Amino acid sequence: MHSLNLIGLLTLLATAFATPESHPPGPPHPPPPQRPIPLRWGILGFPKFVGLDAYGPIEMLNIVKTLTPNMTLAIIAETMDPIPTHVLGDLGGPITLMKPTHTIYDKTPLDVLLIPGGPGSRIAYNNTNLINYVKNVYPSLQYILSTCTGAQILAKAGILDGKRATTAKFSWNEMVKSGPKVPCARWVKDGNIWTSSGVSAGIDLTYAFVAEAMRNETLAERAANIIEIEIHKDSSWDPFCAIWNVTST
Ligand SMILES: *[C@@H]1O[C@H](CO)[C@@H](O)[C@H](O)[C@H]1NC(C)=O
Ligand SMILES: *[C@@H]1O[C@H](CO)[C@@H](O)[C@H](O)[C@H]1NC(C)=O
Ligand SMILES: *[C@@H]1O[C@H](CO)[C@@H](O)[C@H](O)[C@H]1NC(C)=O
Ligand SMILES: *[C@@H]1O[C@H](CO)[C@@H](O)[C@H](O)[C@H]1NC(C)=O
Repeated sequence: MHSLNLIGLLTLLATAFATPESHPPGPPHPPPPQRPIPLRWGILGFPKFVGLDAYGPIEMLNIVKTLTPNMTLAIIAETMDPIPTHVLGDLGGPITLMKPTHTIYDKTPLDVLLIPGGPGSRIAYNNTNLINYVKNVYPSLQYILSTCTGAQILAKAGILDGKRATTAKFSWNEMVKSGPKVPCARWVKDGNIWTSSGVSAGIDLTYAFVAEAMRNETLAERAANIIEIEIHKDSSWDPFCAIWNVTST
């Protein structure tokens, strides 16, 4: 490890002190290689998630998927049991169940993991199996995304340490305890971590992500037009902080 670091350091120094003249004349440098387009998507499911936190992005992604060869969308949960959303019907049971395609133990290779929020994020917060999954899968991902209080799960997995991220206004005071740098914003991007505000903000996050990380705004626009939504493209647009009397931390 030490010798590798030393070689790295020497290479860095050599690069830093190299003069432009030391390069042989030749054609201009090619542009740096771009990150590959993230194609293998996963949505993390857990009981009592907010449906729209996951299904808003999923409706966008489902359209993107039909227009993007080789894109996949996995629903990942602790078990293969259908995952109840938080809304209960008149008979007391959940009205919506999401069907997992894989479990957290399947080691499904992913490029992007999206984590929804909802009342269930507080339970997932104390679920060591789920938190360990997120912690362990993160280094293998190109990107990790959360909507609403899903940021709480990222925080518990240690992924937001020292990072900027945002979350739902409705439970702001509880959420900001999990991480100090929480701005008012529709969504926040810090490195490969993209987090959105409450519920419907996940759709704006998905639009921005498809436009930027999948490098195709036409595709994002097409998905938005099919689901007939007027997207907020300015990440700093966030009237809900004032409505909920909260401020950036
Ligand atoms: C899709 O995957 C197949 C099989 O790996 C590969 O041959 C093909 O080039 C891929 N298509 C695109 C557009 O990436
Ligand atoms: C999670 O664990 C903490 C610490 O044990 C506890 O204070 C909190 O109430 C738990 N949350 C839930 C939703 O169970
Ligand atoms: C972007 O998406 C549109 C709509 O699917 C497609 O027609 C276009 O070829 C894509 N552009 C690139 C650069 O892949
Ligand atoms: C925010 O503050 C205003 C003015 O003090 C108050 O009328 C309103 O009820 C507050 N809203 C919330 C959600 O607490």
